Amino acid sequence: MCGIVGAVAQRDVVPILVEGLRRLEYRGYDSAGVAVIDGDAHLARTRSVGKVRDLEARLDGHMAGATGIAHTRWATHGRPATENAHPHICRKTVALVHNGIIENHEELRRAQTKLGFEFTSDTDTEVIVHEIYRHLADTHDLLEAVRRALPALRGAYALGVITSEAPGRLVAARRGCPLVVGLGIGEHFIASDVAALLPVTQRFIFLEEGDVADLTRERVTIYDASGQIVERPVKQSELSADAVARGEYRHYMLKEIYEQPRAITDTLTNRIGLHHVYDEAFGTGAAAIFDTIEAVQIVACGTSYHAGLIGRYWFEALAEIPCSVEVASEFRYRRPRLAPHTLFVTLSQSGETADTLAALAHAKTIGVEHTLAICNVPESALVRQSGLALLTQAGPEIGVASTKAFTTQLVALLLLVASLGRRGHLGGDGERRIVGLLRTLPVLTEQALSLDAAVQSWVPAFANKQHALFLGRGTQYPVAMEGALKLKEISYIHAEAYPAGELKHGPLALVDADMPVVAVAPGNELFEKLHSNLQEVRARGGELFVFADAKNGITADERTHVITVPPTDDLMAPVVYTVLLQLLAYHVAVSKGADIDQPRNLAKSVTVE
Ligand code: M6R
Repeated sequence: MCGIVGAVAQRDVVPILVEGLRRLEYRGYDSAGVAVIDGDAHLARTRSVGKVRDLEARLDGHMAGATGIAHTRWATHGRPATENAHPHICRKTVALVHNGIIENHEELRRAQTKLGFEFTSDTDTEVIVHEIYRHLADTHDLLEAVRRALPALRGAYALGVITSEAPGRLVAARRGCPLVVGLGIGEHFIASDVAALLPVTQRFIFLEEGDVADLTRERVTIYDASGQIVERPVKQSELSADAVARGEYRHYMLKEIYEQPRAITDTLTNRIGLHHVYDEAFGTGAAAIFDTIEAVQIVACGTSYHAGLIGRYWFEALAEIPCSVEVASEFRYRRPRLAPHTLFVTLSQSGETADTLAALAHAKTIGVEHTLAICNVPESALVRQSGLALLTQAGPEIGVASTKAFTTQLVALLLLVASLGRRGHLGGDGERRIVGLLRTLPVLTEQALSLDAAVQSWVPAFANKQHALFLGRGTQYPVAMEGALKLKEISYIHAEAYPAGELKHGPLALVDADMPVVAVAPGNELFEKLHSNLQEVRARGGELFVFADAKNGITADERTHVITVPPTDDLMAPVVYTVLLQLLAYHVAVSKGADIDQPRNLAKSVTVE
């Protein structure tokens, strides 16, 4: 989604803004722009469609200023085009960048047109800059103008605003979209996330819903939703500027796939004792809450939803706790009926996904008492708005395709299954078994990564295909869904996943020589069933690509390709087989020359509905 950077300093901020945009590229965007107040106190702006490097080429040292804002735009209203790129400017006086969606923009546009404002874009954003200008004309005070303009806006926003009337000032506001303030010495910054500002500061204030921040070189003043000055805690980020560097890897996605053994180890560290899971890992008071829990409702989107689907098998089979899983964008508009004593669990890498946040809010309105976020970003809205939280320790995930966040979510879910299950059917022995297996997982993941070359050898069979099918059974069905999502999102090959038993109920009609069929076949009690389903594919001339546990003894032939996976306990298999599917998607996409880390049309952090 859109990325915002802003700075007020004594030095030229253009290089800081451009570097910040580069660090926000992972969020997904189609155009970029920067505006500064130059040495003559005039607003100067440069925008371009395409990559930040295209913007940089246009800037080419031509613009400088000590106060500025910059933006990467992910089109919602209005196609990707220079005139729709941010910053938007009103009457050469106010410049603004915006992340979010203004739902009543048409109404505001009609009213402002009557007042004589001219529109130069098709965006929903331009009404905000005109609204602020209108109030600035009355007040000649940027902070006051922003505060008066905000009540007219319906929807979600994170904003950065500057004006030529007050060259050393930057005003920011957030409602529904993330925004952080970075604290420097004699200079201050704003950004959509900390990664953008790590080269200039490690001290951050995370703005709360409804906050407005007034930044000058000397001070940062924050007003809460009621207009009162508030002190927000200053957090020291432990990330270094190169924590988000790609290093020797060709793409962030590959780096993040290879980071999984480390990410899993870090997610387990301090969460498990010799044989048990520490309840405290989930937050203060978790133990007492868990004693009362009788059901689990999981809500998430995309890859995080797939993790939830796997979790359901575990909650019900191991802990014997009823568990439902739902896509957040559906849950939020249903009238769900949750059983009493339900733990409402949200899963999210970013913790800023608008649908998941709205589902959480909805759950609270229908009386859910206990909420738990499994999330990778400690200061995210989801963590702050949940009663309990278990933070995955995947580290920053930059590739739009989620990899290490997914596998660490699975680890977190197993910790929760062990903790809740200990109180019931699973008991101490079951918990001991889960903890013991989790300790082996980093090594199992390394073993999966060592099959990388074998996975690459399959690439030619996929590179020219339009479609692919993914099959699995039990927990491997959501694993297959995740494999299909990875392939479609980065290689643009249409891929669908089915529970293997469903093939004969329709999808089998699609099977022919042009439809590669990928199957995940760990050594569990469902293997024989899966094997029969694979025979159905073979009999129709389909070409099979099977990741199979060594003990299954599947043999390869002309149209059955097998990668043998070291024997893996069924409980750990979802992580191991997912790593292999991630590698497959990655290498196929590379062979197609796709934009791996920033696939077309997608955004990392989906902060709009
Ligand atoms: O940050 P979240 O985990 O809440 O994001 C949810 C989805 O947008 C995300 O998983 C998306 O599906 C990924 N691009 C998948 O790789």
